[in-house]
Amino acid sequence: MAISLSIESQPKVPVPDTPSDSVLRVGVIGYGYWGPNIVRNFHGQERSRVVAVCDQSQKSLDRVRHAFPGMHTTRDSRELLTSPDIDAVAVVTPVWTHFELAKIALENGKHVFVEKPFTCTTAQGEELIELAERKHLKIMVDHTFLFTGAVNRMKEMIDNGTLGDLYYYDSTRVNLGLFQHDVNVLWDLAPHDLSIMDYLIKEKPEAVVATGERHLNGVADIAFMTLYYPGNMIGHINVNWLSPVKVRTTLIGGEKKMLVWNDLEADEKLKVYDKGVQMTSGEAVYQTLVSYRTGDMWAPRVEQVEALKVEAAYFVDCVMNDKTPFNDGLAGLHVVRMLEAADLSLQQKGKVVQL
Ligand SMILES: NC(=O)c1ccc[n+]([C@@H]2O[C@H](COP(=O)([O-])OP(=O)(O)OC[C@H]3O[C@@H](n4cnc5c(N)ncnc54)[C@H](O)[C@@H]3O)[C@@H](O)[C@H]2O)c1
Repeated sequence: MAISLSIESQPKVPVPDTPSDSVLRVGVIGYGYWGPNIVRNFHGQERSRVVAVCDQSQKSLDRVRHAFPGMHTTRDSRELLTSPDIDAVAVVTPVWTHFELAKIALENGKHVFVEKPFTCTTAQGEELIELAERKHLKIMVDHTFLFTGAVNRMKEMIDNGTLGDLYYYDSTRVNLGLFQHDVNVLWDLAPHDLSIMDYLIKEKPEAVVATGERHLNGVADIAFMTLYYPGNMIGHINVNWLSPVKVRTTLIGGEKKMLVWNDLEADEKLKVYDKGVQMTSGEAVYQTLVSYRTGDMWAPRVEQVEALKVEAAYFVDCVMNDKTPFNDGLAGLHVVRMLEAADLSLQQKGKVVQL
């Protein structure tokens, strides 16, 4: 890839020692809760360096300098977004700012790594995708879970038929949450499950139903989302910022096997149960026989990797080698489309919204 390094422009952002064609120079905007993980992982890669961090808050920038002495910091996002010495921008700010920051980055020739959910509306997502295509730039949406050992092991088992045809995906993602002000609990927590479902399940959902309620700051803080797939596959997501305990448990039921993913388990995150139910009908209708199969349970080995480290390396590879990431703008857009439909349903107390 050709990355220009303009010396004449005397950039404020310092130029790294390594030549730009071997190292991707990343600017990170947003150093609140999640930003430090992004900075650490892009800075720690062999083929990328974080060359500047921007945050509106001086306190956040003090934390940057403490963690990365000598790191260039700024409160002005334009400085990063227009610098000729930055190849890619990571947008790690609240959701309502993603579109504008990503748009300016793309307009200035930067590849974009943007947090989930991609944008606030599908129209915004479509505009960014079109802009990136026109400028031959990459967009990657941070759907971090797709890079975890657990999700990849589940994908393997679904793809190789271990679970058989899927019946359901049922996730509980609750805790006493960090209240977001710009989005409701669905937009905050459900993108994780929606991106995982898109990754694991071949079909796309056809309709969405969502219910929920607001109690404290004007946005829904508890919500239940149901996704109807072609055939009889059904998805359900329970998200809640008002739970006294943290739960991260997903059940995936298949015709042959059932799986439990408890992401809070340190070791045995996945458990596969050889359990099933079979219906056989007798001569008369009332003679339907139900037989249960109860076999072994085993915990498949799950690779222990830091998902963001793998994802950051993948982003660098996609940019350097002109590959389209599977978690690209289109993948992010599909999640936003499902969230928009869920909002519409939520406003109408669970009306079915077709996708
Ligand atoms: N992938 C994941 O697992 C994951 C986890 C947590 C958060 N996130 C996402 O990361 C994003 C940020 O979430 P957070 O929890 O870190 O939020 P946060 O509020 O803790 O941090 C956001 C930071 O951005 C700064 N900021 C806001 N607008 C800015 C602007 N225009 N220019 C410069 N700085 C600005 C704020 O000062 C703040 O420090 C959200 O999109 C969220 O959904 C993703």
